[in-house]
Amino acid sequence: MKTMTCWLVLTLGATGTALAGSQVFDVDREFYPYYPSLIKWNKSGAEFTPPEVCGECHPKQFEEWTGSVHALAFHDPVYQGELNLAVKAVGHEISRQCEGCHSAAGMVTGEIKKPGLEGLSPMALAGVSCDICHSISGVTHWQTPSHEPENGSMILTPGEDTKDGPVLIKHGPLAPFEGCGEDFHQCKESTLHLRAELCASCHQVYHYDAHFPLEATYLEWKHGPYAQKEILCQDCHMVDTQTFLRSADTFKRPEQGEYHHYFNGANYLLYFLAEQAAKKAGDEKLAANVQQKYQMSVDRLKAAADLEITPVYGDRGLKEIKVRVRNIRAGHNLPTSLTNVRQMWLEITAKDAKGNVIASSGKLDEKGHLEEYTRLFNSDGMGDDFHFAIDPWVVTSFSRHDTIPPKGYKDVYYGLNSPPAAGDVTIEARLRYRQADQGVAEKLLANVPPDMNLEAIYGIKEVPTLPIVDMVVKTASFAATK
Ligand code: HEC
Ligand code: HEC
Ligand code: HEC
Ligand code: HEC
Ligand code: HEC
Repeated sequence: MKTMTCWLVLTLGATGTALAGSQVFDVDREFYPYYPSLIKWNKSGAEFTPPEVCGECHPKQFEEWTGSVHALAFHDPVYQGELNLAVKAVGHEISRQCEGCHSAAGMVTGEIKKPGLEGLSPMALAGVSCDICHSISGVTHWQTPSHEPENGSMILTPGEDTKDGPVLIKHGPLAPFEGCGEDFHQCKESTLHLRAELCASCHQVYHYDAHFPLEATYLEWKHGPYAQKEILCQDCHMVDTQTFLRSADTFKRPEQGEYHHYFNGANYLLYFLAEQAAKKAGDEKLAANVQQKYQMSVDRLKAAADLEITPVYGDRGLKEIKVRVRNIRAGHNLPTSLTNVRQMWLEITAKDAKGNVIASSGKLDEKGHLEEYTRLFNSDGMGDDFHFAIDPWVVTSFSRHDTIPPKGYKDVYYGLNSPPAAGDVTIEARLRYRQADQGVAEKLLANVPPDMNLEAIYGIKEVPTLPIVDMVVKTASFAATK
């Protein structure tokens, strides 16, 4: 306790007002010793176990988790680039916030001292591994400064000390039975693992000290129709594509045997990079594994939305085209999470009967930059000075938030330049997606820590044009006059 007090004084002294008290968000720093991460750790002689060890008895879960975004959460070069920038801008203490979610075990044990991968144990490198989720013994969602789940507000208890020495305890969905865990670990039935609250602690990312919700996937879900119908995160992200479609369309929950440890979402770029790295390292098995996950995430994205094109007629014929973008299968807003970085936009081309373009929007140039006035469905972050900002330690509000709620829609109207007097007008509309603006991706990847050489690991010399997924493509034709 004495060293803890010294440490607190030191951090406060070093950061000045950066982590000072607030009239709105009260922080109990004794309750949250790893602040700005809100994680708690019941320390005992029972240590964290790397996933390879769990995999010896649970090969199916291990294979499914390997190459998942959770497995890549700490290796992720986009993450490491942003972490490096965060530490330079704010100081080392902000990295506790990031690592509390991207590598919880490496953070609480104090093993991770700086951005990068060098010299770290397999446990720290394993990111969101088996022994993070299955050591979660509770959450502190109502005690947090925002009184909402945020910044890793969970309690880790990998085991406990007994008079015969430390024992490992793994929390999971099964009712207790003889022989569960063999002689390696005890089992503890946990209803938390059958709830979205298990995911909430990490899928609510708040500004490290202003407690502004930068990413609010859990609350978007909670305040939407899927929570009402009891379709959980697990029901779409811990299942194969067919089962996900069924959960989203019929609100029928998967059977016990249908769950898999894929944690598959939309980040096909990360799988793409991981596949390059596996090939470079000569690991064909891993490359094939990650390739499947890449395909699964593209399939999820393509299933998430739908487009409807309708004509709007005025006195003198066809005046505007209305495009309705529906979020048909994402359990939260579309897009979600890093909404001020992800890009989902409409590209449209309208042609008259002779093939002349009479309306166009949302085109990319050869360098991957989007044209002005493109209709994007994301958000713009804003700093304390009310100016545009991207970095999570700067953004404390949104000046624009145009994501689409679950089962909801947004309408976009496109006016026609010189609408034709006769013949048909043909419209092609595409809903397109990429992980980030080209410039933002280049900046983050240019800032990876020195021990992560992109050419050595991924075989890339410069950042290529980011791959784009066409989520939906629709065409329609309408008469120029009614
Ligand atoms: C509360 C948990 C949490 C905290 C704290 C957190 N993150 Fe994350 N981070 C996530 C989740 C969840 C995602 C995935 C969201 C998505 O895919 O859209 C993510 C995604 C990212 C990405 C995008 C990665 C990619 O491949 O596109 C970056 C970059 C990132 N985080 C950096 C940081 C940095 C830097 C910090 C600290 C300043 C931080 N994160 C703090 C949970 C967290
Ligand atoms: C992000 C959190 C998370 C991670 C990481 C994770 N699990 Fe799980 N695990 C769950 C959840 C949630 C369930 C319950 C799903 C269900 O209803 O079957 C579960 C269920 C289980 C079960 C019970 C049997 C079953 O499949 O339902 C075992 C065993 C298990 N996990 C082992 C592992 C192993 C081994 C790893 C690492 C390779 C791992 N888990 C990683 C969340 C996680
Ligand atoms: C020596 C073998 C062995 C090792 C190593 C092992 N387990 Fe298990 N575990 C079992 C057995 C056997 C069961 C019973 C259920 C089953 O067979 O899936 C079990 C059950 C579980 C359950 C379900 C518990 C419940 O109440 O729902 C979880 C979760 C779990 N293990 C996680 C882990 C994690 C995480 C690790 C690594 C830290 C791990 N196991 C390492 C043998 C092992
Ligand atoms: C210990 C923190 C933690 C917990 C608990 C957690 N996640 Fe995550 N999750 C992350 C981080 C961090 C990332 C992003 C890693 C990155 O992009 O670098 C992520 C990424 C994901 C992604 C991939 C997103 C994409 O862009 O493809 C999905 C899906 C996901 N999590 C689902 C879940 C579900 C479902 C649960 C609960 C069963 C859960 N997570 C629990 C930290 C966590
Ligand atoms: C009804 C199915 C469904 C449910 C329920 C659901 N999701 Fe998703 N999720 C999707 C689909 C589809 C996508 C891909 C489209 C998108 O990015 O929104 C997605 C994407 C994601 C992403 C990736 C975002 C990115 O930028 O790459 C994360 C992270 C995520 N979900 C986490 C969660 C969490 C956490 C929950 C529970 C609170 C949850 N999801 C509930 C269907 C679902």
